[in-house]
Amino acid sequence: MKEALEQIRRTADGLIAAAADEKAVDELRVRFLGKKGELTGILKQMGRLSAEERPVIGALANEVREGIDAHIRARMKDLAEAALTARLAAETIDVTLPGTQPVQGGLHPFHLVLSELKDIFLGMGFDVVEGPEVELDHYNFEMLNMPKSHPARDTQDTFYITENILLRTQTSPMQIRTMEQKKAPIRIIAPGRVYRSDAVDATHSPLFHQIEGLVVDEGITFTDLKGTLEVFIQKLYGPETRVRFRPHHFPYTEPSAEMDMSCFKCGGKGCPLCKGEGWIEILGCGMVHPKVLENCGIDPERYSGYAFGVGLERITMMRYGIDDMRLLYENDLRFLKQFN
Ligand code: DAH
Repeated sequence: MKEALEQIRRTADGLIAAAADEKAVDELRVRFLGKKGELTGILKQMGRLSAEERPVIGALANEVREGIDAHIRARMKDLAEAALTARLAAETIDVTLPGTQPVQGGLHPFHLVLSELKDIFLGMGFDVVEGPEVELDHYNFEMLNMPKSHPARDTQDTFYITENILLRTQTSPMQIRTMEQKKAPIRIIAPGRVYRSDAVDATHSPLFHQIEGLVVDEGITFTDLKGTLEVFIQKLYGPETRVRFRPHHFPYTEPSAEMDMSCFKCGGKGCPLCKGEGWIEILGCGMVHPKVLENCGIDPERYSGYAFGVGLERITMMRYGIDDMRLLYENDLRFLKQFN
């Protein structure tokens, strides 16, 4: 029996030392020290021993058990430490490596020009207001002196939702909404999306953007309109830019005009961009029609005002020399990245 115990000790020691991982060691613990293990098997036979042999073998059995147990614990500890060391080595982070650059977005050219334009007008004491894109016929046309029968409606290919509701064709309804609400004095710009049933090409889109301007106060004259718009254009395109006004017709202004600016490319000499004219049409404007003031409850005997409407697409394209409007909507990063 003594020999059997020694045999167990040798086998166990050899196997524990050779065990590759904690799981293998645990299996050896069960095999040698478990309830149905080899050592227990030997101890069960103790009854057959004589009274003198029993304490000697008992002591040896205990010693073998403790020896194997201690060996198992030590091996477990070593293996755990080795596993940790290996993991630390595998998961090492090199903090000196360059980081990955996060993708950084930029502002769309519309936003760049619009914020420049807002800055210019805010600097001249204007407020920025916004209004609905789904608009009443009443505000989009009726109150602007364009009753249902008016031919000027036909030039705006309108998306109607019902007979009296439509996608606004212009930002001019914001004049009416503002005058109705605030009366006078008023000094606002109203940027926003507008819609017309136009086919897409290099200069047309069914969705585009306008910025409306409106000033109403006592003693406002056409010189205020001219001076303000000249300053605006010169701030946007440079102090050498000249402007000119041509008579025009809008039902909601009287007199009405279109404003041209000297071609920013040739300086007015004439080039392919301005089609040899030296001038580029930039916006519509005029003195608010007395009837429109009256419609909004403002006394045209006391107050006068001017208004203008400018296309954001047009001034953005001029600003950056973009020759196709579709580029502004396609969101091609190769195009957009050039502005940041
Ligand atoms: N609403 C006009 C358009 O869409 C632009 C315009 C012209 C606005 C004259 C005005 C204005 O306020 O006074 O073409």
